[in-house]
Amino acid sequence: MSFADIRRKVLATEAVTMLTCYDAGWASLLDGTVDMLLVGDSVANVCLGMESTRGVGLDAMVHHTRAVRAGARRSLVVADMPFGTYLQRSDALTAAARLMSEGGADAVKLEGGGDYLAGTVRALSRAGIPVVGHVGLLPQTAGAATGFRVQGQDSAGGRAVVADAVALANAGARAVVLEMVPDEVAAAATARLRAMGVATIGIGAGPGCSGQVLVLHDALGLTPPHARAPRFSRRFAQLAPAAQAAAEAFASANGMGAAEALQAALRGRAIVLDCVTT
Ligand code: KIV
Ligand code: NA
Repeated sequence: MSFADIRRKVLATEAVTMLTCYDAGWASLLDGTVDMLLVGDSVANVCLGMESTRGVGLDAMVHHTRAVRAGARRSLVVADMPFGTYLQRSDALTAAARLMSEGGADAVKLEGGGDYLAGTVRALSRAGIPVVGHVGLLPQTAGAATGFRVQGQDSAGGRAVVADAVALANAGARAVVLEMVPDEVAAAATARLRAMGVATIGIGAGPGCSGQVLVLHDALGLTPPHARAPRFSRRFAQLAPAAQAAAEAFASANGMGAAEALQAALRGRAIVLDCVTT
């Protein structure tokens, strides 16, 4: 996969697919099945038990990106730039370079639109770093400012989301994630970006995007308590009960044999002692 392939898919209206991924094992299972593996800063909630994606820093993102890279040969590896690493353009270049060189990412993703971020996206693109944008709900800064709810619901808000996506595409973004925006806003942004060969990747943004992204653990039915799966995310499997059943099977298989195992161990010790004394 390359961003040229993504562009070709967008222009041919073929679906573009992305799942989050945080380690090498899952990466090797998913590699080649989806176009892009996103090393999301949702690793904070999904794997590290944190309440906010703001809890994860650049070192941790590099660490997880390197793991995903180790398991991925075909899918593109996109790494989230963590909160606070792209407030200044020069910091953004340094952080993105680490995600690429140390982590082995193929591209980086950052949250936000507007003139200020378009400048950063342009600088990264010019430096040869492929960028994925992210507009609508922005988990890094949501909360006090906007709340975790659908963004761009009135007509001015909807137009702002579309304008942000277009500005990012004009600045060189190869794809833009649209998170929790009304279907018609996502469809409008998709029409504009498709004409430029740029993918929109929706999450809670309706079916009218170039592609979709889900948090892996939500898709698999493995969402831990710290990461509450959003209402819109469709579950494609229910792996949590299967994992619990396997752990119970393991525990009872070993528990039932414990008395015999202890006897065998003691017998072995007696034999060893015999050898030493004779
Ligand atoms: O970190 C993440 O999981 C994301 C997706 C929700 C797009 O940014
Ligand atoms: Na993210």
